[in-house]
Amino acid sequence: MKKQVINNVYWVGKVDWELRKFHGNEYSTHKGSTYNSYLIREGKTVLIDTVWDPFAEEFVENLASEIDLNKIDYIVANHGEIDHSGGLLALMKRIPDKPIYCTANAVKSLKGQFHQDWDFRVVKTGDKIDIGNGKELIFVEMPMLHWPDSMATYLTKDNVLFSNDAFGQHLATEKLFNDQVDQCDLFQESIKYYANILTPFSAILRKKLDEIISLNLPIDMIATSHGVIWRDNPMQIVEKYSQWADDYQENQITIVYDTMWNGTKLLAEKISEGISIGDPDVVVKVYNLAKSDENDVVTDIFKSKTVVMGSPTISNSILHSVAGFIHYMKGLKFKGKKSAAFGCYGWSGESVKVINEMMGNAGFEVITEGYRNQWNPDADAQKAAIEFGKTIAKA
Ligand code: FEO
Repeated sequence: MKKQVINNVYWVGKVDWELRKFHGNEYSTHKGSTYNSYLIREGKTVLIDTVWDPFAEEFVENLASEIDLNKIDYIVANHGEIDHSGGLLALMKRIPDKPIYCTANAVKSLKGQFHQDWDFRVVKTGDKIDIGNGKELIFVEMPMLHWPDSMATYLTKDNVLFSNDAFGQHLATEKLFNDQVDQCDLFQESIKYYANILTPFSAILRKKLDEIISLNLPIDMIATSHGVIWRDNPMQIVEKYSQWADDYQENQITIVYDTMWNGTKLLAEKISEGISIGDPDVVVKVYNLAKSDENDVVTDIFKSKTVVMGSPTISNSILHSVAGFIHYMKGLKFKGKKSAAFGCYGWSGESVKVINEMMGNAGFEVITEGYRNQWNPDADAQKAAIEFGKTIAKA
């Protein structure tokens, strides 16, 4: 069912209430998501983006019930990833000769995925198309936000920036706008999206935000491709992105561990106590990786100034849950964060050294040799773990 966004702009996307995993199984979506497609009906009729391919037929049928598909003049593909381009194949079977406006890289990704020679019209930043009634669409390339092919499209007069993934959130809702949903959900899903998807591109994002601001385009709405449209103070999310892109951190320390016989778990709890004694103002979070959602943990890592990683020693190394998590963090290219390591061992005891090496390679500043304890922590070892926590708090 279409919903009016503003004047002659309509939402024609799909709300996916059931979605719990995205990017295969890489990203948890506790609150579902939406795939936002927009229809503009001015002198020309324009479709911006489609939906994920499981919903392609439903999408095309719904669209056909709203308008004669042959009345669509232009299609804009802001991004080639399948959650937005997935409806194209079904749509283009019905209207194969319609032009698709996209970046040169999007041609590569769309051809690579769909193997079709559609009428691609390559656009660059600043290119415009006249859509009648005195309105234009202006294209802004957004390379690496978050794919090389990404772009945004700006609708003049209505002052709507169709930003695609940027500024989005995985949040299923029947409501269209940011002022209509729970603000805690909105903030949490926005920062989680940034932390897990956009962190590696923060430097590029800083430049792009400056470029968008320097274009002096009045922005009344930011219509993303996931979640709600920012209409109430839309620049609030741009300001948040500016903060998040600037090697963001809060006064928070996060302890992340896995454990075999609860010795390393006990150390985690004592280190947490020590940190709180050492700095009563610091926020401390503790996660057992084996029992936690990794994307939620990464969201807390994103907020942290220091990460304390723990694993017992196994096979002269560390538990694979911890190794895999550090590998994930390495890909996110965090900057300006410190790390410390801890763990129990029975015999050889390499885990702390291995964690320090991996965290250093992942771009963290290792601030201590770490704390390791042989066998289960006794009263002295627990006191030592508390002292270790105090040291980290003061580092
Ligand atoms: Fe990069 Fe929402 O797809």
